[in-house]
Amino acid sequence: MTKIKRTLVTTALPYANGPVHIGHLAGVYVPADIYVRYLRLKGEDVLLIGGSDEHGVPITLKARNEGITPQDVVDKYHSIIKQSFADFGISFDVYSRTSSKTHYETASEFFKSLYDKGEFLEKESQQYYDEEAGQFLADRYITGTCPHCHKDGAYGDQCESCGTSLNATDLLHPRSTISGSTPVQRTTKHWYLPLDKHEAFLRQWILEEHKEWKPNVYGQCKSWIDLGLQPRAVSRDLDWGVPVPVEGAEGKVLYVWFDAPIGYISATRELTPDWEKYWKDPETRLLHFIGKDNIVFHCIVFPSMLKAEGTYNLPDNVPANEFLNLEGDKISTSRNWAVWLHEYLLDFKDKQDVLRYVLTANAPETKDNDFTWKDFQARNNNELVAIFGNFVNRSVVLTQKYYNGVVPQPDELQDFDRETLEGIGVFAQKTQEALDQFKFREAVKEAMNLARLGNKYLADTEPWKLIKTDAARVETIMYVALQITANLAILMEPFLPFAAEKLRKMLNMGQVDWKLCGQKQVLQTGHSIGEAELLFQKIEDSEIQAQLDKLQASKKANEAAARTANPAKENISFDEFSKMDIRTGTILEAEKVAKTKKLLKLKIDTGLDQRTVVSGIAEFFEPETIVGRQVSILVNLAPRNIKGIESQGMILMAEDADGRLDFVAPQSPVKNGSEVR
Ligand code: MF3
Ligand code: ZN
Repeated sequence: MTKIKRTLVTTALPYANGPVHIGHLAGVYVPADIYVRYLRLKGEDVLLIGGSDEHGVPITLKARNEGITPQDVVDKYHSIIKQSFADFGISFDVYSRTSSKTHYETASEFFKSLYDKGEFLEKESQQYYDEEAGQFLADRYITGTCPHCHKDGAYGDQCESCGTSLNATDLLHPRSTISGSTPVQRTTKHWYLPLDKHEAFLRQWILEEHKEWKPNVYGQCKSWIDLGLQPRAVSRDLDWGVPVPVEGAEGKVLYVWFDAPIGYISATRELTPDWEKYWKDPETRLLHFIGKDNIVFHCIVFPSMLKAEGTYNLPDNVPANEFLNLEGDKISTSRNWAVWLHEYLLDFKDKQDVLRYVLTANAPETKDNDFTWKDFQARNNNELVAIFGNFVNRSVVLTQKYYNGVVPQPDELQDFDRETLEGIGVFAQKTQEALDQFKFREAVKEAMNLARLGNKYLADTEPWKLIKTDAARVETIMYVALQITANLAILMEPFLPFAAEKLRKMLNMGQVDWKLCGQKQVLQTGHSIGEAELLFQKIEDSEIQAQLDKLQASKKANEAAARTANPAKENISFDEFSKMDIRTGTILEAEKVAKTKKLLKLKIDTGLDQRTVVSGIAEFFEPETIVGRQVSILVNLAPRNIKGIESQGMILMAEDADGRLDFVAPQSPVKNGSEVR
């Protein structure tokens, strides 16, 4: 076993095509920050590395949709993300980005070094090419008809109607989303990382030598390896990314999942000239904090790259988390179903610790979990305010009141006092053990148990009553309470850094280190503390309701968008169109169809005949108000039986995003039977 001298902690680089939300925080940044703050308190040499992932097809798509450049997109989100992390207290030593110059150099060099060592396969394949736009098409740039469900609007990698993953070449009637033209297949060359070649190594290294990894991580690795690993392309035909640094690779860039993890190295390089010590010295431990969708890249692909390069350390552990849902639904950027960090920071000013606490106490460590605003409120009001905040406030206020803020000299300790002081060490120890195993939920629970102990101690001893009858006893009680309070100021620092700092200021504690934590005497008799300040405030129902309303609004907006989002249908020929016989007609009679909400039975004068049509418009039109109206009617639609009535044709209606209907009809009266075309 090599001795560990320092730790390099990386956090998954968020894509700079949207802001950061609570799912990112719970999965990656909060646990990483807790861990790093803990090591720093212990005086260890540790770096927390972060940055934005600024490449990949979705960013180019977003830019195209908004009519701006990919650089504009990433500039915008990089600064929002970076600022919100800083305001939230994620204590990065560096927060960089993959569009930086250093990153381009680092990623190119890395590729070049593998290339020179012959670590890649070169392979030709057939790929769709847009001849009008003059470029190869990434899967997301191709749409067509799904070969499984036959819905139009499927993408080259997936059909969103039926959820099937696709290859672009499976699509029926493929179209380029850039020019609308039909793409052709062309031969292209790419470089592949032969993961199959590394399989034996990976099997030994992970499955034999890292059985201590979290079961969800180990299990995913095992199933990937057992399925058999395939070579993976590490280049793409795209004009946004790090150019492939070899001859004959014009118009090709490194695949985003090749360059992004190298971003950890680039960021370290930007931070310190000593970067190699953190990446290559075997006495450095490398830890990747990620979400579960990143496991294969951090446990299989990136380690294979590092191993192939030959001079880098491999990760010691990859404590990946599962997903956090929101109010029972999957968090989704595109559906705006999320709690965005930058918005939270505005809506809940100075309440960073509340969110940090809730996300830790309910972290999706072993299974997916759900964030609800009610739980957020309850944990704040019943735990942070009622337990931690209440205890601290009492102990500081009473010390001010009885002793002018000076830590008293304890009188004789009773068994209860001794047991309580013992509790400090026990909870500190349990917290530490949980932190060492990346069990952050358990760690924060044990830290909170120390506050519970303090709260209960004061409730049981009731110094505010004793002060009249047994002043000497109260000196002991307040002494004990203050030692718990001071311990909390240290123990809570990794989890609740804002409150812990405020508390240390209140207690005049100065610099602290973890070694003090768990000790029975942290504050000396005679030490002066400051004035009490509230650490936490109650969160009112109205604030929670406002958040629930905001979510409700996104749900509404999504439903509306879903109705208008029907992609344009496939082209048809004029002949196909001409097959439809659409005429003007007039409604002669209208009545509700019994036992239905939506249907009206109409009698229409079509100019050709009078006929019955059943139409789903009853929610919008009262029968009596539409008699006499002109309409357009498809007269050669095969008759259909609807609720026992033969419907002969169809009235044309326009439907807006909210599902409201209106007649499509001539602006001024025309003769019934006129053709619409
Ligand atoms: N941007 C990726 C995601 O959000 C994570 C990249 S992690 C890195 O899923 F290792 F590639 F940097
Ligand atoms: Zn489908």
